[in-house]
Amino acid sequence: MGGKNPYIKQVDTKLPTEPYVLTFVLGDSGETKAVVVDPTALPYTDEGLPGSVLDIACGQGVDLDHACGGVCACSTCHIVVEAGMDSCNASTDDEEDMLDSAPGLTGTSRLGCQLVPDGSSPVRVRIPEWNRNLVSEDHH
Ligand code: FES
Repeated sequence: MGGKNPYIKQVDTKLPTEPYVLTFVLGDSGETKAVVVDPTALPYTDEGLPGSVLDIACGQGVDLDHACGGVCACSTCHIVVEAGMDSCNASTDDEEDMLDSAPGLTGTSRLGCQLVPDGSSPVRVRIPEWNRNLVSEDHH
């Protein structure tokens, strides 16, 4: 599944024009995976908004759950932005509504499928531990 949710407002995003580094912090382990995002290769997949953290995660082999297929209709792609929020699109009311049901909500929580960095600075996001557990259970 993927694509756009016709029931939500269009999201204003700006795609990067230069390569930038997106670092995933994998749950409580502190383990990280940094990827260099190639703007000419976006979107990597059809999961989430083009150039979103979910799109990049799926394209780079990083497990990030996305039960609704990246159309802002669940909260399983919850991530916590640890650096680089200034280079990302603002959240919409629809995203905030979905985030309200995410466990472990923080002040910098976002939905990975709706968060699109513009590449003007490095970005670091943490995938909550519960999300990682969910993904690994899916694989059994
Ligand atoms: S994957 Fe469902 S809201 Fe992001």
